[in-house]
Amino acid sequence: MTTGNRTFTMVKPDAVAAGNTGNILAMIEQAGYKIVALKLTQLSEAKAGEFYAVHKERPFYGELVSFMSSGPIVAAILEKDNAVLDFRTLIGATDPSKAEEGTIRKRYAKSLGENAVHGSDSDENAAIESAFHFAVTDMI
Ligand code: RTP
Ligand code: MG
Repeated sequence: MTTGNRTFTMVKPDAVAAGNTGNILAMIEQAGYKIVALKLTQLSEAKAGEFYAVHKERPFYGELVSFMSSGPIVAAILEKDNAVLDFRTLIGATDPSKAEEGTIRKRYAKSLGENAVHGSDSDENAAIESAFHFAVTDMI
């Protein structure tokens, strides 16, 4: 896949359960992203643990893994210029009480732990995370 203009996102279990998937995807499209791969799925605890392995020494890791495997998620690969950085701006701060007005987390996140969306933090991780969830043949 091309790097630099793609990022990876998940609508997290809180937002899927609350029925906010459509609204969140609409905000993403309105921000100029093209959806190039999309699926509804559910992570096992093992898969959620692997996905967030970078955080395994952190005190919140167990809670994070349990939350991320607690229900369906929607995973997507998104394309736009400057995709990774612009998407971090669009989703807002990890803690929704610190997120700017108009961001996805300000509008839809419940708490620091249950914060509606994931966004890759680098081009390298966008490629790794996309490959974790999708085959090359799933991507447009
Ligand atoms: P994400 O990877 O999901 O896009 O979130 P992020 O970059 O904004 O934040 P990160 O530091 O990567 O943390 C990953 C997720 O772990 C949960 N978290 N809980 N209880 C806590 O102190 C705490 N800190 C982080 C959040 O769900 C966060 O999105
Ligand atoms: Mg992160």
